[in-house]
Amino acid sequence: MMDLQGKTAIVTGGSRGIGRAVCLELASRGARVAVNFRSGHDAAQEVTTGIGTNALAIQADVSDRAAVKAMVARTEAELGTPDILVNNAGLLYPGSLLDYDEEQFDRMWRTNVKGVLYCCEAVAPGMIERGWGRIVNLSSNAAIGTALPGTTLYAATKGAVLTLTKRLAFELSPSGITVNAVLPGFTKTDMVLAGKTEEEAARLIEAVSNRSLVGRVGEPADIASLVGYACSEASAFMTGQFLLADGGRQDYLTRV
Ligand SMILES: NC(=O)c1ccc[n+]([C@@H]2O[C@H](COP(=O)([O-])OP(=O)(O)OC[C@H]3O[C@@H](n4cnc5c(N)ncnc54)[C@H](OP(=O)(O)O)[C@@H]3O)[C@@H](O)[C@H]2O)c1
Repeated sequence: MMDLQGKTAIVTGGSRGIGRAVCLELASRGARVAVNFRSGHDAAQEVTTGIGTNALAIQADVSDRAAVKAMVARTEAELGTPDILVNNAGLLYPGSLLDYDEEQFDRMWRTNVKGVLYCCEAVAPGMIERGWGRIVNLSSNAAIGTALPGTTLYAATKGAVLTLTKRLAFELSPSGITVNAVLPGFTKTDMVLAGKTEEEAARLIEAVSNRSLVGRVGEPADIASLVGYACSEASAFMTGQFLLADGGRQDYLTRV
């Protein structure tokens, strides 16, 4: 269904993984898409080439407030005022109570939390003026519990994304803007598989698959279709919600 015809979307971290799948999903629904990336220029360019003329690759570090403002201004000039924002860019560094690197935690916080705030801040005035907007924030099932040790601080950033989602939904609802969060479970991307051998990756995927009702891990497209719905007019009656897509995981806060 081409239900995003005429809309302009910004997808942060759109160069690979879930963000890439979201860019393709929104474009397939008819949206013009700004594909944001931090360092993966070629990967982002590949996504825009796949989409065609209605796409633009834009470099910006979402943790840099001025760079985010410039990204939104360029999107506005070249594709139109953003109607849709998908805050997908994210980092995962290991970190638990007695074992973390403060610099890594700060980088994760700046990207995963402040990045969401800065992007919402930059697109909100245009959405308010037009009386319509869709904001979708990528949180994580880690925000509500996990069986994976060493992800406490990452989970805290994703919990903050849930809080921002609720509060921004409250702030922006009078202007026709909905704000929802999507919480993916384990999804096959670099974030969870980079640096692993094929054997290690296969073992991890099998272990996680065995803990879900559907018996598999997520593909980026599983998450992108949910994001696509939350960006559409069809979701107008839903705001401030946490949409969990984890294959029916059965092991939250269970030691394995
Ligand atoms: N994969 C999972 O299992 C999973 C589960 C739950 C939640 N999530 C969440 O889903 C989102 C996407 O995850 P993913 O697995 O697709 O990650 P990924 O494969 O590691 O891709 C991350 C993307 O974010 C971009 N990025 C990172 N830091 C950035 C910054 N400061 N500014 C702009 N872009 C930045 C990267 O761009 P460059 O390549 O240019 O650096 C890349 O496009 C994240 O928010 C993640 O926390 C993922």
